[in-house]
Amino acid sequence: MTVAPVYKQGWTMDDVHWSLFDPQEVDQTLLCAIKAAALVEYNAPDYVTYLKRVFAGSQETMTALEQWGREESQHGRALGRWAEMADPTFKLEEAFVRFRKGYTPAHFEGGAEASVRGSRRGEMVARCVVESGTSSYYTAIRDATEEPVLKEIAGRVAADEYRHYKMFYDILNAQTEPDIGFWTRLKIAIGRVRESDDDELAYAYYCANVPPEKEAITPYKRKKYSRMSAHASMTVYHRRHIQKLVQMVVKVVGANPHGWLANMAGALLWRRLQSRTA
Ligand SMILES: [Fe+2]
Ligand SMILES: [Fe+2]
Repeated sequence: MTVAPVYKQGWTMDDVHWSLFDPQEVDQTLLCAIKAAALVEYNAPDYVTYLKRVFAGSQETMTALEQWGREESQHGRALGRWAEMADPTFKLEEAFVRFRKGYTPAHFEGGAEASVRGSRRGEMVARCVVESGTSSYYTAIRDATEEPVLKEIAGRVAADEYRHYKMFYDILNAQTEPDIGFWTRLKIAIGRVRESDDDELAYAYYCANVPPEKEAITPYKRKKYSRMSAHASMTVYHRRHIQKLVQMVVKVVGANPHGWLANMAGALLWRRLQSRTA
């Protein structure tokens, strides 16, 4: 068994071994998913602005959020550059402009200081769910691809996402506000998972994979592109990736990551993914 390299925090674009790129090993379905992921990651500055509003007054957290945002943007740049190598007709900046124009989550608009999750702790539960998802997704991509540069980028990004999860988990537990109970955490976690079906992923997939000159004859249809986006990204998963994802989420909810809830949720999610991939 080959052991994946351990990637440390603070890597830069220059650390990636771009010269090892092998076009023969590019999987076209995965390429579509990577282009979309690049746009979502590259959109991190909006999340930083929103989270800094929620955590205003806490300098240490604000500094951590800024660093987090820089790392997420770099994920977008690295994935985008790889996609541009794999498909020279793809242009990250161009696709990103279209994505930004058509997609803004409601809570990024306006200047409300409160978290849409009800509290700072609630916000951190939702962030941990997202980082659980990205951490397992990029691990699955690293394991699935034979293309050396994508394997390296996915390994680096997955390690960052896992560190982000730990960081948000620590911020969650450091809050002085009253704790939130199991059911509230579970509701927030399920709500955040459900949002994965919203416009963000579907519209990113559309902007990344339908060139501007074809927009008029291929209009955006949320259901269609949500399905295509899910299909393209779900092909990389194995059961173990899903179990790890579920264990991370269950821990944040406050239950035993190796208990019945994790086992049941893992089995259910795996079955759902398989039916969506079919
Ligand atoms: Fe990321
Ligand atoms: Fe992350």
